[in-house]
Amino acid sequence: MIIARTRQELSQTLKSLSKKPGKLSLIPTMGNLHDGHLSLVKMAKLHSTKTIATIFVNPLQFGKNEDYDKYPRTLDLDIEKLEKEECDILFVPINQDEVFQDINKIKQIDSGPLGSELCGKLRPNHFNGVLTVVHKIFDMIKPDIAIFGAKDFQQQILVKRMAHSYFPDLTIIKGPTIRSKSGLALSSRNNYLSRKDLILASNLFKCLQNSIKSYKNNKDINEIIQNALDFLKSKNLIVDYFELRDNELNIIEKNYHIGKKIFLGSVTINNTRLIDNIEF
Ligand code: PAJ
Repeated sequence: MIIARTRQELSQTLKSLSKKPGKLSLIPTMGNLHDGHLSLVKMAKLHSTKTIATIFVNPLQFGKNEDYDKYPRTLDLDIEKLEKEECDILFVPINQDEVFQDINKIKQIDSGPLGSELCGKLRPNHFNGVLTVVHKIFDMIKPDIAIFGAKDFQQQILVKRMAHSYFPDLTIIKGPTIRSKSGLALSSRNNYLSRKDLILASNLFKCLQNSIKSYKNNKDINEIIQNALDFLKSKNLIVDYFELRDNELNIIEKNYHIGKKIFLGSVTINNTRLIDNIEF
């Protein structure tokens, strides 16, 4: 695997790789790689002959009181894992200037009304920061395909919309959520939790599953949501939101909705916010 640490190294590496035929897939990450991230690399290899991963903890998407400084950074292990997956290139910028040039002069991308809903309601400007860095990375790498995880469903929808406007030839692929045995979605933030908290956290997945069952048994949506909130609270989870939406994240008000739907939830446990969803 070739590791590029600067814009210039990246562009040289991409130039030499462009001689190889086939499509290039990109997997953007913030590192601390787990099987969820690696499943996206595996997926990239199914869709293309060349793969590039990026590792960059993007300051623009962290709020003032969020975990930017303590976000887990495990570069050596990450490199080992990507080499095992036979990823072709890793771009891990040596500093933020390699991505933004001058971060203070950057004009952020507006994530629109959806960017202020769900996770965006709790994290103002988060999705503007995500879209701004993803746009930069797309622009630097110009991949044919970019792969994002279904776990961050709202992020994936917003990226898809941004790509549609700015990079019409780019295909966005969604990879399924990878979970631990308990059902808990893998996340770098799970590292912040004790064993006991991890067990409690897996109730979010159970709650999503139960809510789908209830929906299929024709239970009223308001009742399903109320039951979910009560259940999560009973497990000592602070609920940030728990909602049913359609698969473009429009609000569903009726009890009956034709087409794909998704239950999405966010809970906080010991100051750590976790998100999950199931599409059905
Ligand atoms: P990060 O949290 O590192 O996630 C990188 C990619 O891995 C995202 O597409 C995310 O949805 C996916 N992912 C995370 N956990 C997963 C799981 N359990 N199963 C499947 N996929 C999973 O998301 C970001 O970084 C950043 O916001 C980024 C897009 C890199 C922009 O900074």
